[in-house]
Amino acid sequence: MNAGRLLAFEGLDGAGKSTQVERLAAALRLAGYEVVTTGEPTDGRWGRRIREMTGSGEAVPAEQQLAWFTDDRRDHVREVIAPALAAGRIVITDRYYLSTAAYQGAGGLDAEDILARSEAEFPLPDLALLLEVDAAGGLARVRERGARIETVFEREEFLSVVAEQYRRLDRPYLVRIEAAGTPDAVARAIADCVRERLGTDLL
Ligand code: TYD
Repeated sequence: MNAGRLLAFEGLDGAGKSTQVERLAAALRLAGYEVVTTGEPTDGRWGRRIREMTGSGEAVPAEQQLAWFTDDRRDHVREVIAPALAAGRIVITDRYYLSTAAYQGAGGLDAEDILARSEAEFPLPDLALLLEVDAAGGLARVRERGARIETVFEREEFLSVVAEQYRRLDRPYLVRIEAAGTPDAVARAIADCVRERLGTDLL
């Protein structure tokens, strides 16, 4: 069986990740691939605990956040990502461990250490697409879609620090995509990037 491919979307809240996950999945399905879309935080027990925090605005130390996001990812990889990759599917995840490096890094933890531990434990993405918007632009999009702004992560000062953490990340599988444009323009840039990085046979 083929080893599948793992693609991760990353970026600030309101960067447009969920739209682009669906658009890329649709393009790959049209090209004949079996695609699994998924995301973090999951709907599992750790993901629900995380949403309890963001829903209530509860102040939780960054170390505790790191533990919850990591436990959530461990379940996610075991139950969803690893089996799909083993079955030869293309897995597209809306957030993965680079989110932990950037957000909990912004919360004061060592982002490089988080990355190193994550890479030692979890499958590396074949490609991580970092959708770049600034904090104010991201929050404007969150407001536009009518979602409630939560107060743990979705504050402009905090997201500016997250953006700075994302800017510092450097990995061979990490590609930055300018995401302030229209959804069509961003989808085209992503398709070009996937083609270039994963081979023209893919798209
Ligand atoms: P988000 O992608 O907004 O999930 P949903 O829209 O389903 O609620 O993720 C929730 C928040 O969690 C978001 O502000 C980013 C943050 N986050 C981290 O701080 N660390 C992580 O490792 C992940 C995966 C997310």
